[in-house]
Amino acid sequence: MSDAQSPNLPSTPESGATNTPATAEVVSGARIIAVTSGKGGVGKTFVSANLAAALTRRGQRVLVLDADLGLANLDVVLNLHPKVTLHDVFTGKATVEEAIVRAPGGFSVLLAGSGMVEYSRLTPEVRNQFLSVIQSLAPQYDVVLLDTGAGISDVVLFSVSLASEVLLVATPEPTSLTDAYAAIKVLAMQQKRQHVRLVINQAARPGDGRAITGQLQQVLDRFVSAQAGRPLRLIHMGDIPADPYVREAVMRRQLLLLQTPGCPAALAMAQLAGKIESTLLSPAA
Ligand SMILES: Nc1ncnc2c1ncn2[C@@H]1O[C@H](COP(=O)(O)OP(=O)(O)OP(=O)(O)O)[C@@H](O)[C@H]1O
Ligand SMILES: [Mg+2]
Repeated sequence: MSDAQSPNLPSTPESGATNTPATAEVVSGARIIAVTSGKGGVGKTFVSANLAAALTRRGQRVLVLDADLGLANLDVVLNLHPKVTLHDVFTGKATVEEAIVRAPGGFSVLLAGSGMVEYSRLTPEVRNQFLSVIQSLAPQYDVVLLDTGAGISDVVLFSVSLASEVLLVATPEPTSLTDAYAAIKVLAMQQKRQHVRLVINQAARPGDGRAITGQLQQVLDRFVSAQAGRPLRLIHMGDIPADPYVREAVMRRQLLLLQTPGCPAALAMAQLAGKIESTLLSPAA
């Protein structure tokens, strides 16, 4: 795949005045990881929730923040019915502590409201409030996972900019890979990212993810690195196989890791957590 071969690639804004590449640098404390994607529906929320459960099991203090501000659905996947959301914190009706709830996997979550059109645009207020919530919470955790929206809108890119690490979820489908490429390109150009971590979800065969990462890397080397002025390295973090137990867990609003811990996708998720812990959360990382 390349720019030339993919005439339908979305154009990638190169001068995103609303995104400061250095936002993550003003947040100290927990390792902040944005779980994001180019295309929607590829498994970000599923990965965020189950990765959080797996990291909690390994002894990490984990917070998942539903950063898909207008179209939140982490609460649905976790079967939580929040009385207080990030919206109440942003509007001064509640403190951030009041908005944090404990998820079934033992980790903390900060849920957003759904259907709120005010969060479809990045305003200075949303920006500042979002940043101050993250700054106040980060010191209390080892890792904060931001379950972001899909794509390259201002709001998504701003939430990603709060993270020091990007975990980009893609499936092997060509549409997902084209959108992943577009998102990575924007992250390289606007946020000056030097690396992006990839998880290939709904993989059909072992080895899928490694091959896909290699192909995407070649296209990036050819079309993005020179433009960005530096190479962007893709780091393959793991593959999650397509597994019917995932859908079953979502339908029951249960965490896969609690419902069927021995199924292939749950085992892959546990492996991903081990890799994240050893590469990003250990004292030497
Ligand atoms: N490994 C998998 N095997 C089988 N089905 C999966 C797998 N991962 C995700 N799914 C299916 O994909 C659906 C969408 O996943 P999820 O809601 O996590 O995506 P998302 O990227 O968060 O979507 P959005 O962009 O709307 O936030 C799940 O409800 C589940 O049915
Ligand atoms: Mg989601």
